[in-house]
Amino acid sequence: MARRKIIAGNWKMNMTPSQAVALCNTLKDLVATDEADVVYCVPAIDIVPVVEAVRGTNVEVGAENLYFEDKGAYTGEISAEMLVDAGVKYVIIGHSERRDYFKECDCLLNKKVKQAFKAGLTPILCCGESLEQRETGVTMDWIRLQIKSDLVGVSADQVKGMVIAYEPIWAIGTGKTATTEQAQEVCKGIRDCIAEIYDTDTAQAVRIQYGGSVNAGNAAELFAQPDIDGGLVGGASLKADFGKIVNYK
Ligand code: PGA
Repeated sequence: MARRKIIAGNWKMNMTPSQAVALCNTLKDLVATDEADVVYCVPAIDIVPVVEAVRGTNVEVGAENLYFEDKGAYTGEISAEMLVDAGVKYVIIGHSERRDYFKECDCLLNKKVKQAFKAGLTPILCCGESLEQRETGVTMDWIRLQIKSDLVGVSADQVKGMVIAYEPIWAIGTGKTATTEQAQEVCKGIRDCIAEIYDTDTAQAVRIQYGGSVNAGNAAELFAQPDIDGGLVGGASLKADFGKIVNYK
């Protein structure tokens, strides 16, 4: 079964609302394609204007975070229901920057994943190893632990519809991309892990992205790998280059 590619931009803490609209207008024709799903994951304050700016195009909008409670006294947080009502379809959960700077642990991320599904959002669940972990040879052990912990209580049907992003921390924003072999090896390892927890059908259906210094020059080779179903793109998603990444063929 052929999996449809999904190429998502992760804008991180970049773009004011007016800059966001300008970027959407610049990218509009460049990211047009029938062959892949295209998503912009944008800062919370940009969601409403970006949903408006991409209306009628092939682009869907994602959030970069959510909170796991339905509503209430959680100053500064944003609920899944708010995201859905604003027109958001995807949400990044467990990006390494949130795991590291904001101390988000797998127990919390598991709640966020379940909350996203409850609201009808598609999680883009991130995982990945540090340079030290890679050098000590525990990459796959670490990632399997992340995946297994983050998916506790999540059904096979839910996993079939979700996205997992493999992002080696040492390759994020560093200009240092994992080699195609390294990226493919871990993405396959993640698929094997899903087959173990669930079954082969689920493993074959789940889409697994690579992220970490994806650019217009390396996208085609990375996305051609059998277990890489697209990319989660940081820096290069803020430029016209993103069009080349989306139309990598
Ligand atoms: P990068 O970021 O493409 O700038 O390395 C990727 C990410 O953090 O999702």
